[in-house]
Amino acid sequence: LVVRAGPYDEELIKTAQTIATKGRGLLAMDESNATCGKRLDSIGVENTEDNRRAYRELLVTTPGLGEYISGAILFEETLYQSTSENKKFVDVLNSQGIMPGIKVDKGLVPMPGSNGESWCQGLDGLAQRTAEYYKDCAYGLARYAAICQASGLVPIVEPEVLLDGDHDIDRTLEVALEVWAQTFKFMADQKVMFEGILLKPSMVTPGAECPNRASPEQVASYTLKLLKRRVPPAVPGIMFLSGGQSELEATLNLNAMNQSPNPWHVSFSYARALQNTVLKTWQGEEGNWKAAQEALSKRAAANSAAQKGEYDP
Ligand code: 13P
Repeated sequence: LVVRAGPYDEELIKTAQTIATKGRGLLAMDESNATCGKRLDSIGVENTEDNRRAYRELLVTTPGLGEYISGAILFEETLYQSTSENKKFVDVLNSQGIMPGIKVDKGLVPMPGSNGESWCQGLDGLAQRTAEYYKDCAYGLARYAAICQASGLVPIVEPEVLLDGDHDIDRTLEVALEVWAQTFKFMADQKVMFEGILLKPSMVTPGAECPNRASPEQVASYTLKLLKRRVPPAVPGIMFLSGGQSELEATLNLNAMNQSPNPWHVSFSYARALQNTVLKTWQGEEGNWKAAQEALSKRAAANSAAQKGEYDP
């Protein structure tokens, strides 16, 4: 048995543990330019670099955000953007006690011969890119956990099982069990240090079009069953994506999962379930800035309470 010891082991563990601190989770704001464009389009704002920058400034400068948010996942463009007062976003986040992370993949492409599966591009040159990103600051997110760890980045491992479809919750569990078995087998083969990664799974829910809906207690019970069967306790944090759930559903489901003790920090890494109301409130108008930031604080505080199992709607 070879146990790999890398130069960044201690730092990786410290970073992962800092992100997985009680009552905090991740703000996923790593929308690519195209996805960010779709979000802006929904409120009639043009997809220009400056509008994307303004929206992201609104998010990162929300007062007191660090109380609820331990890390923010950025798109590469955002890493080099600054506020209107010329402060780098990365510095603003750090000063709030929020660790900046980065999406390092190069987008999805359809996987030939599969049943509509997608494959992340970007392995070519990933080692070089992660080394460059690390020089600028410490951040995480990776498709390829071992390469990221070798560069000192905590990878956020995200095999997303999409919500689309009319399948029931048992079918979702079956598929997720298979996906996680393979993910952990490959990570073990590649000598990934489990103490220095974070997981970003989808919750186990019925498909979006399934007529049999599930209560938060059912979602929690199925999702915890998945985690207990597949995820070693060495992994410090499970940071769920929201995957198209409503803001309230995502909070209630997380809260239900934290009603009983479990070996991990079970928390959130939501994009849409943190940002939907923020966008609708902002509408691209300077005058709505403060109300939009309050909307973000409200969702972040609700999910912080849910992380502790103390959310009271
Ligand atoms: P949602 O919470 O909107 O599913 O997005 C999370 C995500 O995958 C972004 O990285």
